[in-house]
Amino acid sequence: SVNGVEFKVADLSLAEAGRKQIRLAEHEMPGLMALREEYAAEQPLAGARIAGSIHMTVQTAVLIETLTSLGAEVRWASCNIFSTQDEAAAAVVVGPEGSPEAPSGVPVFAWKGETLAEYWWCTEQIMTWPDTEPNMILDDGGDATMLVIKGKEFEQAGAVPSDDSAWSAEEKVFHALLRESVPAHPGKYTAIADAVQGVTEETTTGVHRLYHFHSEGVLPFPAINVNDAVTKSKFDNKYGTRHSLLDGINRGTDALIGGKKALVCGYGDVGKGCAEALAGQGARVQVTEIDPINALQALMDGFDVVTVDEAIGNADIIITATGNKDIITFDHMKRMKDKAILGNIGHFDNEIDMAGLESAADVTRINIKPQVDEFVFDSDGRSIIVLSEGRLLNLGNATGHPSFVMSNSFSDQVIAQIELFSKADQYPIGVHLLPKILDEKVARLHVEALGGSLTKLAKDQAEYIGVDVEGPYKPEHYRY
Ligand code: NAI
Repeated sequence: SVNGVEFKVADLSLAEAGRKQIRLAEHEMPGLMALREEYAAEQPLAGARIAGSIHMTVQTAVLIETLTSLGAEVRWASCNIFSTQDEAAAAVVVGPEGSPEAPSGVPVFAWKGETLAEYWWCTEQIMTWPDTEPNMILDDGGDATMLVIKGKEFEQAGAVPSDDSAWSAEEKVFHALLRESVPAHPGKYTAIADAVQGVTEETTTGVHRLYHFHSEGVLPFPAINVNDAVTKSKFDNKYGTRHSLLDGINRGTDALIGGKKALVCGYGDVGKGCAEALAGQGARVQVTEIDPINALQALMDGFDVVTVDEAIGNADIIITATGNKDIITFDHMKRMKDKAILGNIGHFDNEIDMAGLESAADVTRINIKPQVDEFVFDSDGRSIIVLSEGRLLNLGNATGHPSFVMSNSFSDQVIAQIELFSKADQYPIGVHLLPKILDEKVARLHVEALGGSLTKLAKDQAEYIGVDVEGPYKPEHYRY
């Protein structure tokens, strides 16, 4: 702690560089800036103590400072070991008015290149408030929420289970943390679970976890599924990825994409953005899917639908975007072309069997540069290039989605935080969507910022199609 601000970041002297980028990002995030203006007087988050876990990027810095400008107190960690932009983390700690010697910003615990143990330590710090508990969670992928739910479960059981050989390295580190923390701070997570009024969840994978927790009967507070706001998943997941996938591949490898054969696994929102981006560069794109509806969409969009087994030997670039596990196995890797590029853009690193690759006896790892590794198969000298150790490559090799698209997602986040914090009685325990009228509000702000002219619905037209002149314009079941 310096000047009363607790933090652990790479280097506070990067704050000035971070602040310059934040200033430019604010211009590209009209939704967040409009919310600051709209709620400046009302301060709807006064009294909120938000434990936040989202990639600590420049865009997230603008989100954090929007939350504080609406009255919230905030502690922050990244939701991925590689995704922090150290200059953004430093700038948030220093704050707009502070200096590296006298920071006056927000407690941030995040740096690029954390170990798994450090990652979970950082997540624990956002739950550890001086003399009190957080009362809101803002999550991306569900790790912060899981820490509270599992911490409470183990407190109630009186013990943390011993390691299971089937667990991933991550699960082992997570349980090791709780094995120390649960006896050291009795009742800590039970108290947090009681104090928290709600969680707003950013991504597909975290939303899957929330529905799972709720079906098991262990979700202790209401949740808003921000991901499935239309202005989130149909924009960030798709158009954000369409930008940042290429950014990650380019910064990581600088390989020409045109003419290459690319394989995209999964044709959901993220897969659609990836396939379009690669095709836009002139790659010949193939897609894998389990769902016939998505597979048919891929075909109609002009992409071959194949299996990994069929395509793996020919692909130059392989991207996983399923949010599922075990998509690319070690066996697949051995069949890839020499110097094929392999990366994942789904939330967790279990889409690719990194554990199998890293522990194989006859494979040599050559680090090319941070977040780029060549794995050489000793038997014949062929190799593959793996980006960000199989973790989100757009955040590991590049800086994630650009500001304008994150302005949509983060406006949804801010509105969801206000909803859960100020209208607790309207949200029982369960997983809720943002009301459509608020989704439309976020879209409207960004249409205006891009200079689009919306057509105004006439009253008799509105009656004819059965909607209100002011919206919402679509029924809940409409799919966009
Ligand atoms: P989605 O559910 O829309 O799409 C996933 C697709 O993968 C589905 O169509 C599903 O049928 C397919 N799939 C599942 N198992 C498969 C298998 N074994 N083989 C082939 N296809 C399979 O989900 P969305 O929104 O596209 O998200 C995907 C992942 O990306 C999630 O983990 C999400 O959290 C993450 N994400 C990452 C972002 C980033 O910036 N890197 C941004 C947004 C989401």
